Amino acid sequence: MRIIRAKDYKDMSRKAANIISAQVILKPDSVLGLATGSSPIGTYEQLVKWYEKGDLDFADVTTVNLDEYYGMKPENDQSYHYFMHDHFFDHVNIDPSRINLPNGMEPDEKKECARYDAVLRSVGDVDIQLLGIGRNGHIGFNEPDDCFAKGTHCVELTESTIEANKRFFASADDVPRQAYTMGVQTIMLARRIVLVVSGRDSRSASGHAFSAVPPINAILRHPESSSAPTAVRTASTFGIVTQSASPCVS
Ligand code: GLP
Repeated sequence: MRIIRAKDYKDMSRKAANIISAQVILKPDSVLGLATGSSPIGTYEQLVKWYEKGDLDFADVTTVNLDEYYGMKPENDQSYHYFMHDHFFDHVNIDPSRINLPNGMEPDEKKECARYDAVLRSVGDVDIQLLGIGRNGHIGFNEPDDCFAKGTHCVELTESTIEANKRFFASADDVPRQAYTMGVQTIMLARRIVLVVSGRDSRSASGHAFSAVPPINAILRHPESSSAPTAVRTASTFGIVTQSASPCVS
């Protein structure tokens, strides 16, 4: 992983957006793996600005998101569907038929995981996967003790994740206890990974980012284990880190 130290949140966001925008310019039909959380919000804001200036075109881009809360309606403002539309999709010319997220409203776990894995196979290689990192080092909703051999699966969120994510809800009781998440195995198949780490939680998150704590240790090994062609493996994983807090979410 190539670590890029950003001077503040804005700088981190611009650096991540630069890598993603280069990808979209060089390959207009790119498949982008997208993430939620406060860390990537500035990246989306920057991409929207460049789109509005006419520098970027998302018409042929396909997106796949990492995760969604189980039992969450897409119109709920805490759903990741809502988040993605609010911060990105509704502001660019992406084709709605090319937007893919797990369906939190599907109660049958087996069915939804099989459906989403089929979607992931059908879109082909993810060109760039944008990632944040949870306070306890989770990636998507792959908690530290999760089994990394899995594809899409339904996880029981840990108490620390419920505690960390309650800031977005009225209370901890409102945080869903389960979520669908893309598996680490699938994330590792991305040709490139851009991990953005910011905020007051970045002290602990960075600790995880540079340690052997799973699942981040798998991400750190990405170039070696990636299925990407050798030519693409050079600097295939970027960690863009700032100690500055995200201004987006208190
Ligand atoms: C959620 C998401 C993760 C994200 C994490 C950290 O739990 N499922 O994908 O990385 O939040 O969010 P933040 O960037 O706000 O610290």
